[in-house]
Amino acid sequence: MSTALQATGVTLRYGAVTAVSDVDISVAPGILHGVIGPNGAGKSSFMDALSGRRKLSAGTVKLGGQDITRRSVTWRRRNGMARSFQKTSVFGAMTVRTQLDMVARKTGEDDLDGIVDALSLRPYLDEVCSSIAYGHQRRVDIAMALLGRPTVVLLDEPGAGLSVEESAQMFDHIRALCTDRDVAVVLVEHDVEGVFRVCDEITVLNLGAVLASGTPAEVRAHPDVIEAYLGSEA
Ligand SMILES: Nc1ncnc2c1ncn2[C@@H]1O[C@H](COP(=O)(O)OP(=O)(O)OP(=O)(O)O)[C@@H](O)[C@H]1O
Ligand SMILES: [Mg+2]
Repeated sequence: MSTALQATGVTLRYGAVTAVSDVDISVAPGILHGVIGPNGAGKSSFMDALSGRRKLSAGTVKLGGQDITRRSVTWRRRNGMARSFQKTSVFGAMTVRTQLDMVARKTGEDDLDGIVDALSLRPYLDEVCSSIAYGHQRRVDIAMALLGRPTVVLLDEPGAGLSVEESAQMFDHIRALCTDRDVAVVLVEHDVEGVFRVCDEITVLNLGAVLASGTPAEVRAHPDVIEAYLGSEA
């Protein structure tokens, strides 16, 4: 099976703190890969390492087989790796339409309408980004990450701050977009049940290291995961 994203031995230290320790991940096109773990497990640090926001202390990141470990965030965005941000990124006085058009032109997107509909954004196209509800802003942010047909999309807590219902819809949108656009998605989320519901594969981080990795069924049944993380809910 071809691999869109492959990272090996990813290690990230902040001074004396090892936030990410020797983590491997491999994600094929069309696969939704969830990353879960307790607070401070290293999930955001891992995403920062994959996205190029922070330099690895050790390890390799490959995009479509090409070593991109030392490439900048900008280079990655131009060459197929996009990410969303937990804080809504670019929201000023522009309408949703103008904002999306601008990024679509810059990235050479050929199906903006498809993305708009897949994220249920059509009713808000003529509203000013900063004035629409937070949940809609989150979906604009996801739309922007998807423009230009990236092969890999990194999403750090796209459901943060959303209601239970909005969060469930967000997961459904991401699931559909992942499959329809054949993009490899890495999804970090606190909503563990949501991750188990929509993801094809899951990696569980604990203290910066991989505790378990596999299909949702495999991970749910993993003794270490049950003990350390899922507790009596499992
Ligand atoms: N800039 C930083 N400088 C020093 N230590 C940091 C920094 N950012 C994170 N850490 C530490 O690295 C570890 C991993 O943090 P990280 O934010 O990656 O975890 P997380 O899994 O995303 O947590 P959360 O679920 O709270 O979002 C924690 O011990 C944290 O305190
Ligand atoms: Mg985090």
